[in-house]
Amino acid sequence: SGHKFPHPPGRRPIAYDAMRMNTDTPIKNVMTIGGSLGPIFEVRVFNQKYVFVSDAALAAELCDESRFYKVLAPAVAQLRDFVGDGLFTALEGEQNWHTAHGVLMPAFAKAAMRGYHDTMLETAAEMFGVWDSQGGPIDVTADMTRLTLETISRCAFSRDFGSFTSSERHPFVDAMVMALMTGMQKGALDAVPGGGRIARRIDERNADQRAYLDDLVDTMVGERRESGERHDDLLDRMLYEAHPETGVKLDDRNIREQILTFLVAGHETTSGALSFALYYLSRNPEILAKAHAEVDDLLGPDPDTEPTFEQIPRLRYLRRCLDETLRLWPTAPAFARSPRETTTVGAGTEHEVVMTPDDWAMIILPMTHRDPKAWGPTAEDFDPDRFLPENSRGRMKNIYKPFGTGERACIGRQFAIHEAILVLARILHRFDITGDPDYELRIEERLTIVPKDFHVTLTPRTPTV
Ligand code: HEM
Repeated sequence: SGHKFPHPPGRRPIAYDAMRMNTDTPIKNVMTIGGSLGPIFEVRVFNQKYVFVSDAALAAELCDESRFYKVLAPAVAQLRDFVGDGLFTALEGEQNWHTAHGVLMPAFAKAAMRGYHDTMLETAAEMFGVWDSQGGPIDVTADMTRLTLETISRCAFSRDFGSFTSSERHPFVDAMVMALMTGMQKGALDAVPGGGRIARRIDERNADQRAYLDDLVDTMVGERRESGERHDDLLDRMLYEAHPETGVKLDDRNIREQILTFLVAGHETTSGALSFALYYLSRNPEILAKAHAEVDDLLGPDPDTEPTFEQIPRLRYLRRCLDETLRLWPTAPAFARSPRETTTVGAGTEHEVVMTPDDWAMIILPMTHRDPKAWGPTAEDFDPDRFLPENSRGRMKNIYKPFGTGERACIGRQFAIHEAILVLARILHRFDITGDPDYELRIEERLTIVPKDFHVTLTPRTPTV
């Protein structure tokens, strides 16, 4: 039959389901199409078949490392043009993944966060300086992007990107969005007749920004090597550390790819997470009040008091707000898995289907994270307290995966959580947050997802203790 997974009705010859997929909004399209197609379904765009999983139990099965492994969805595979076999885009079994993972892991252990804490605070303080001086509503996603880019560049590369000294967007951000969008567009074009020609035109148009990225990374490496200085940061690890067991070091090409990988992966998704969190807080006065109260309780009456490293994990309510934000809008919204051997998924259900090693499927997190079979009838609501231990008991296992799964799960998870809680704490301690009541959440997709055109007004407040 050519297909074994349910697909949308009304397929066309040649183009198949292409009319339903807009290359700029794939997640939104899949969420719309998938509503009625069951737990696992396919969408075919010309010669490219995509299989999507929307069901929590099925996603949990695909997260079983003994049966499935990470593969690159077409849009992610396209990123190899920019970041090769860097950590995020490495293929299963690639040697450089093993080397880089071993060399860089120690910088992301929970204890290592202590070394980043003060830099995170300083960067946030710089943002407040700008906010205090300019007044008026802030463009949330733009400012959270400034903040998180600045934080990762300072923490990982001891380099100031000057994000707060210019009112322009940093050119790196434009180049990054270009690279991510290119991945999305070229991933979709691969299977389209004449797509190769369009893809080449996209590459030509982007040549300057590519050169900019190359130059930026070369400068970072060159300056560090020439200075002869040692820093206790990620860049030094990349340049000088060997894998603890194999003794292998990263080569120059791979170092470039890892730098770009961390500059992008290290800020874009955290920026989106903070933006969505502020969106939900601005929309839910009771939740906002509880969040204010938790921060005030911990930090006291002076809005300039900064949290200590040890205090961050004590902000349990803020943590639940972050977890709940990443449930509804996981900012890295999908990842792809393939079976190691032929296997039956959904065994014993009416959706049982055999997957072979040629098959792969993308777990669509904003769908699996809202599956009412796993999360109950209020699955679409923002309710941080669903993450209270007493409310989590009896919930299916392995269904909450905003940071991916297994060996290839997010290396920056602790970093992202520490940074996001720290920033939310400081914002809430200092400001009341008022969103535009007429704003309707819109999502911008660039492989990651961020809120579009979302503004809030921040009013200085006196913490109430
Ligand atoms: C991998 C999400 C923050 C660096 C991943 C994956 C997800 C994810 C879902 C797995 C993707 C897959 O299976 O294909 C997130 C989210 C973040 C975040 C939601 C913030 C809220 C960060 C930060 C860093 C980072 C702060 C670095 C400082 C990476 C890297 C990988 C990765 C290098 C690839 C790991 C590997 O395959 O070995 N992330 N991430 N991420 N993330 Fe994150």
